[in-house]
Amino acid sequence: MLLAGWTLDWIGIKFFSMAEYPKGRRKNIKPKGIHSDYLLKKNPSSFVLKMLLSASPYYVSGSLLAEKLNMSRVGVWSRINKLRKQGLVIEATQNRGYRIAKEPDYFNLSLIKALLSDYKDDFKVIVLDKTDSTNSEAERLLANGEKTPFAILANMQRNGRGRLGKEWHSPKEGNLYLSIAFRPEADLEKLRTFTLFQGVRLCNFLRDQTGIDDIYLKWPNDLVWKGKKMGGMLTEASIDFEQVKTLIFGLGLNINGNCESYPSGIKSHSTSLVNLCGEKVRLNEVASKIIKTIILTYNDSMSGKFEDELQNKWASFDFLKGKKVEFSAQGNKFTGKADGIDCDGSLRLKLRNGRMKKITAGEISIKK
Ligand code: BTN
Repeated sequence: MLLAGWTLDWIGIKFFSMAEYPKGRRKNIKPKGIHSDYLLKKNPSSFVLKMLLSASPYYVSGSLLAEKLNMSRVGVWSRINKLRKQGLVIEATQNRGYRIAKEPDYFNLSLIKALLSDYKDDFKVIVLDKTDSTNSEAERLLANGEKTPFAILANMQRNGRGRLGKEWHSPKEGNLYLSIAFRPEADLEKLRTFTLFQGVRLCNFLRDQTGIDDIYLKWPNDLVWKGKKMGGMLTEASIDFEQVKTLIFGLGLNINGNCESYPSGIKSHSTSLVNLCGEKVRLNEVASKIIKTIILTYNDSMSGKFEDELQNKWASFDFLKGKKVEFSAQGNKFTGKADGIDCDGSLRLKLRNGRMKKITAGEISIKK
């Protein structure tokens, strides 16, 4: 039995760098430790970007780039111009060379590859300007036999999907719409808390990178700040006889989007990273770090060493902890106090009569 698209609903001070790069006073610098022969061969544009990123805030001389790329300085200039046409702001100064000044507010594959080039895991990254849904695109690629893991990033989605059949508002405003696909071939039992574990690691990452501590996880799949939704996770899997064959982890994160322009139904309870940080952040850098975090967390889930971490850390990320909540599913409503999660990832609700109810799926709202 293959349940394609089955939703695992129930399981269900560093600071981010600002979009504009700082300007250094020194003339230029020889970036050290760039041993990316592979990158140089496969993707010279990413190699150039990697050199510029390593030297930032200083310049890299045109002659050094020409030497490394084994081309003339005119050739370097034309490659730099190609990158500029893709939206990267690269400054050029005589006697100094080139310096990266700003990255675009949309995904750039060469930049993502440069940012991921030191990562040990080998995986494909696909950047789409628009798609219906990155989760749906991943599903199609899996059906076509695409090698896993692979990551899909889109600048906008026409039909972004959320939990419980809801829409995920996905405008082209510098937000993250990401899906990463895996073929775990593992017992469903092993992956039942996968979304929660990813949520804890992502929340931890966001707190760490922003220096802001009141970013929480609202069971089972919302990333919230001051009670407003900043991101959501959607895990979909195909299962065959209790074996998880394919797994798609989808993440939508409002990064540089202006929530003021969001539809009235979601505007008042949405927020984005730019609201927290006060300035636009580097979208491609954030996306690369998030891809690394998700793949590392998947590897840890598969090696089975996460149950303790999830249980130990849950309380410090649990937005609902101790709050009076209402739960509704299939026409039934319960009110109680949220009391953490059970080992299977279900939400524990302490009812008025003192009984404990385990919630595995459904809509949760906070009661005043
Ligand atoms: C939710 O909060 O209900 C989950 C939202 C998940 C949205 C992301 S955006 C990338 C991926 N593609 C989709 O269609 N949905 C997920």
